[in-house]
Amino acid sequence: MKLWQGRFSKAEDEKVNDFNSSIHFDKRLYREDIEGSLAHSEMLAQCGIITVEEKNKIHEGLKGILEDIEKGEIEFSVDSEDIHMNVETILTERIGDAGKRLHTARSRNDQVALDIRLYMRKEISEIMVLVKALIDAIVEEAEKTKDYVMPSYTHLQRAQPVSFAHYIMAYAQMFHRDLQRYADCAERMNLCPLGAGALATTSYPINRKLSAELLGFDGIVENSMDAVSDRDFLIEFCSASSIFMMHLSRFCEEIILWCSSEFAFISLDDAYATGSSIMPQKKNPDIAELCRGKSGRVYGSLITLLTMMKGLPLAYNKDMQEDKEAAFDCIDTVKQCAEIFTPMFKSMTVRKENLRKAAAKGFINATDCADYLVGKGLPFRDAYKITGKAVALCEQKGCDLETLPLEDYNTLSPLFADDVYAAINIEHCLAARKADGGPAPEAVTKQIENLKENLKKYE
Ligand code: ARG
Repeated sequence: MKLWQGRFSKAEDEKVNDFNSSIHFDKRLYREDIEGSLAHSEMLAQCGIITVEEKNKIHEGLKGILEDIEKGEIEFSVDSEDIHMNVETILTERIGDAGKRLHTARSRNDQVALDIRLYMRKEISEIMVLVKALIDAIVEEAEKTKDYVMPSYTHLQRAQPVSFAHYIMAYAQMFHRDLQRYADCAERMNLCPLGAGALATTSYPINRKLSAELLGFDGIVENSMDAVSDRDFLIEFCSASSIFMMHLSRFCEEIILWCSSEFAFISLDDAYATGSSIMPQKKNPDIAELCRGKSGRVYGSLITLLTMMKGLPLAYNKDMQEDKEAAFDCIDTVKQCAEIFTPMFKSMTVRKENLRKAAAKGFINATDCADYLVGKGLPFRDAYKITGKAVALCEQKGCDLETLPLEDYNTLSPLFADDVYAAINIEHCLAARKADGGPAPEAVTKQIENLKENLKKYE
């Protein structure tokens, strides 16, 4: 018998029953549903809407149900549709009439909005711990690799010298912003919708602020219709997650490239690589590829929610039941990826010699060569042209700017002298880029210190 059976003259079609039911996925909210009901009944009792005795019975019953669910002793029923009605039905079976009073001054609309907020609050803080651990791992590696010179790239063509530390710190900065986005989203979400009822609150003398306080919210959602009809907080969460996954996916792409023999900048620990079923020589970066691929699922959740919400009139519509699977999959995917990426990153070996070898090729000191001529009094545009010719000459002769003889330099400009070799020395080029935010070891140290300071509030 349905809790809402009253006005119907016949049972629903079985297919409707299955289609309508959300218990197979919203059972994940059982703890939050019970936590919310404990607070709601407490508030009802304190406001004199139910008796203290009834409240005590409800509390005892709910706690028993929670224990039994955790022991795996409760089978939820599709007939009870969702987690809210399952818990209420079981409660009433166990404690009788007091159970029937629990839903006074409440609707499933404010109940579900509450449950998801409580659930998301907990999940976001767990995700933040994982993202913070990832940033810490990057910072730790950066501290050890400030003098690992390597080429940076634009258009995947060698550009200018940086260090491995500087390169990976770029990702630490991106993940720091992801952390801020999650914190921001959690803060905005932390308002209590309970008491909004179906959409227009209730005529019972409830105390919404008390419910909010009991559940550790910063306040209440101010408009009852807004409280039950928006899921923007889930959209924000999936949006922050999509950006995080986009960053992670780029980092994965770097790792995939770097462990190819073409780059050979890193090697993955055997524990985080996989083999091929046919090619015995293979050591594949499957973990990084999977994280890269899974970004698609997270974007999918975001698009699901945006599309689901975009045409809905106020207030609650059943479409919104679709929010949970999208949000849950997003949570699971982000957690799984962050959990496995961090130890993979920590255990990989950075091949300093190969980074240095790559830095020696590709004329990544060409800008410095032009700057050298500028130092000798030439306007930058002229210096640029002459250096371009020097590069062409090197290509012709099969050498680098470091090994091009001075006579050859002087065929291009009389301004070149012996000190050009010191000016274009790769280590020197790196050390010279000490502007704030630059790759010189001292600038990277500053960057690391600043980030560590900013991260303190997430400890
Ligand atoms: N299972 C529903 C959901 O997840 C709960 C709210 C149902 N409210 C209603 N009026 N049908 O959205």
